[in-house]
Amino acid sequence: MTVTIVGSQLGDEGKGGVVDLYGDAADVVARYQGGDNAGHTVVHDGETYKLSLVPSGAVRGKVGVLGNGCVVNPRTLFDEIETLREKGLDPDVRVAERAHVILPFHRVLDGIEEDVKSESDQEVGTTGRGIGPTYEDKAGRRGVRIRDLLDPDVLRDRLEYVVPQKRALVEDVYGVDVSDLEDPEAFDVDALHEEFGEFGRRLAEEDMTVNASAFLSDAIDDGRNVMLEGAQGTIIDIDHGNYPYVTSSNPTAGGAAVGTGLSPGVVGDGEIVGIVKAYLSRVGSGPLPTELGGVPGDTPGYDEEGDGPEEEIATYIRDEGGEYGTVTGRPRRVGWLDMPMLRHSTRVNGFTGLAINHVDVLSGLDEVKVGYAYELDGEELETMPSTTEEWGRCEAKLRTFDGWPDVDWSEVAEEGYEAIPENARTYLEYVSDELDVPIYAVGVGPGREETVVLEDPY
Ligand code: GDP
Ligand code: IMO
Ligand code: MG
Repeated sequence: MTVTIVGSQLGDEGKGGVVDLYGDAADVVARYQGGDNAGHTVVHDGETYKLSLVPSGAVRGKVGVLGNGCVVNPRTLFDEIETLREKGLDPDVRVAERAHVILPFHRVLDGIEEDVKSESDQEVGTTGRGIGPTYEDKAGRRGVRIRDLLDPDVLRDRLEYVVPQKRALVEDVYGVDVSDLEDPEAFDVDALHEEFGEFGRRLAEEDMTVNASAFLSDAIDDGRNVMLEGAQGTIIDIDHGNYPYVTSSNPTAGGAAVGTGLSPGVVGDGEIVGIVKAYLSRVGSGPLPTELGGVPGDTPGYDEEGDGPEEEIATYIRDEGGEYGTVTGRPRRVGWLDMPMLRHSTRVNGFTGLAINHVDVLSGLDEVKVGYAYELDGEELETMPSTTEEWGRCEAKLRTFDGWPDVDWSEVAEEGYEAIPENARTYLEYVSDELDVPIYAVGVGPGREETVVLEDPY
């Protein structure tokens, strides 16, 4: 059977940890979308693993598959495999022949487009990994797929078609001289052919490429358990998220079928676990009705750091939850849990269970609030409107819960659900009742043993 792990909010809900928790019973862990824009954390035996591309199951020796819906930067792939090997692991990673390749010019274009957009305050705040430009080329039928890397003639044909277009775009539309770029070889067909042809030889030598659909279907037919690991989250899904402040793929459950070649029936017969952070965090721009305080540069209309009680709570949550960019150290935007967002997410994904993480982070606050509805133009909304402009005008209506104390969370995890402070249980049960989805797990700390497990989906 399959268990699909989906981010219910804006990414960084703790998906990696849940994949690690439930992945033990899985034989194969496959990612179905996104690329090295993800950052999934697995804490195991005191060691912290940060994975951006390799499926999180690799930490426990599961076969990892990058499905056809992924965009793969081979530089990152081999670097990450190397880093895991240095830590004493032996990751077994397979890559779909149909997955698309992120080429160096995609990253350059990602950066240029963000710069241009920022002149009119329209930047998305992307991870700069070239994700959007690669999916654009996929949809534009000019992309390079993983299988193309293994055939030097095909690779040359593809590059000879696409590279001059990209060079013209950079030089003629954006007015950037390619020779001034940090990596001018990003636009050089011969250099790309040599480097990426070499990646192709390596993929073939190490027998890493697969027909993902056949590989995963065979595993299911053999009675093996497959975990489908979503990256990002529902509200940054290109179709169901907060367009244009989104990533360029479908993190939602439907993407798990399209992005692996398993049929919707197979995915739907399995379990779909929604990963919920007990508050919100957001990287990048776009509205956030339950936001606490703000982050200059990211929060719309918020140009200078403020102070006041909201700002104090925001800093508390940020510090307790470690909500600072792993690379830049920049504070992330934070807010109260948003129920209209979660209702939308539950409908789109069809969650069969919830894992609610970071309950420990909120401990110590006198009060914990939840946005239970929005008010827009005098009307009360239970779920999110479809446009960013309307969402930006929504006022969150807040419900207040009594806070819960900081306790020994490892002990709580050991003792089970009843050991969670009563006020926290009231909060959790409110969320589960409102969404009509049972709670499968409660995260009370970053480690696997800091999780209260109520249900194992396998
Ligand atoms: P992902 O992208 O959804 O896999 O999540 P990230 O790994 O980017 O971010 C989640 C962060 O929170 C990581 O540092 C995790 O180790 C940590 N984390 C996960 N669950 C919990 C939890 O229940 N409590 C606390 N305090 N931290 C958690
Ligand atoms: P994980 O899997 C949080 C955000 C970026 C930006 C938008 C588009 O760790 O939850 P992109 O580079 O994808 O074109 O950026 O999406 N974003 C994420 N935010 N967690 C992620 O992944 C994200 N991946 C992309 O910040 O706003
Ligand atoms: Mg992350």
